[in-house]
Amino acid sequence: MSTPSLLILPGDGIGPEVMAEVRKIIDWYGTNRGLAMDVSEDLVGGAAYDVHGVPLSDETMEKAQKVDAVLLGAVGGPKYDDLDFSVKPERGLLRLRKEMDLYANLRPAQCFDALADFSSLKRDVVAGLDIMIVRELTSGIYFGEPRGISVNANGEREGVNTQRYTESEIARAARSAFELAKRRNNKVCSMEKANVMESGILWREVVQKVHDEEYPDVELSHMYADAGGMQLCRWPKQFDVIVTDNLFGDLLSDVAAMLTGSLGMLPSASLGAPMANGRPKAMYEPVHGSAPDITGQGKANPIACVLSFAMALRYSFDLGAEADRLEAAVEAVLAKGLRTADLMQADGGTPVTTTEMGDAIIAALDASL
Ligand code: IPM
Ligand code: MG
Repeated sequence: MSTPSLLILPGDGIGPEVMAEVRKIIDWYGTNRGLAMDVSEDLVGGAAYDVHGVPLSDETMEKAQKVDAVLLGAVGGPKYDDLDFSVKPERGLLRLRKEMDLYANLRPAQCFDALADFSSLKRDVVAGLDIMIVRELTSGIYFGEPRGISVNANGEREGVNTQRYTESEIARAARSAFELAKRRNNKVCSMEKANVMESGILWREVVQKVHDEEYPDVELSHMYADAGGMQLCRWPKQFDVIVTDNLFGDLLSDVAAMLTGSLGMLPSASLGAPMANGRPKAMYEPVHGSAPDITGQGKANPIACVLSFAMALRYSFDLGAEADRLEAAVEAVLAKGLRTADLMQADGGTPVTTTEMGDAIIAALDASL
């Protein structure tokens, strides 16, 4: 296969800081594992707005369509709060997801042993936790029409968003979940609100049908999404893979994130259909946001972004063993007690800056050779 190509979009807030650490790791793989990558960098979000007047230029969009994988930092910040909705930083991210058709968003929630006491839940509830949320990412209420704010017949303003799903949109998200489950613990729980939403009734039917026809050997259950949120907090280890729609997935993945102790730890992969070279359309990003309150202070935790690159190694480049190596390096650094600011509440530990955390991961990678 050709040299893997990677488009880096650091974005706003802490995005550039955490991405700088990932670039060191990419270089490490080039030097030490013979993994040359064709890396380019561009603007997204507020950073793109400042230069181009839009949160994602057409040229950047075109580049994203051509590379093997996009790696994105974060978008948004108070500076852009008053911008028109159509040019807000988040629109850049949503355009990438939609136009690349990245319908399957994989959000693992894994509790590192060294961090089991950081969760707001008890240690035995979260220790050893390893679940995967598959969030549908290109449809549902995020993109449904009609939408907007208008004045109704009574002269009152009215805000409208539409939850809309087609059978094929549900089916392809379900397939992603079943495929993942086969490589994990073979269990899928599908979440919707079939008790109040027609789109939820259809969701449940289609997931069941894909299961019965294509994946009868995977264990499938269904849960209302509100109960799912409750169960995630009560006993999260009952789950293996959770598949859900765009909005519920947004909420439930933040809940799952807190089980692991810090939002600064969680990576994600957004995958679409295979390209001509067999690799899936893909974008990788940390689940955390741009964290304007700590930007530029060396406090950001680069681990979510580093682990997002590990997901790229696994899902785009089929380098599972190298992804394992990077994840083990992160685990080793945490086990040593190194802690960025977000991880400092519980066990003391050794405070480190963003850069020091990156360097420590590199040292652990060196030690793995
Ligand atoms: C996420 C974020 C985004 C979303 C925002 C930044 C548009 O919360 O990726 O979970 O709502 O999808
Ligand atoms: Mg979110």
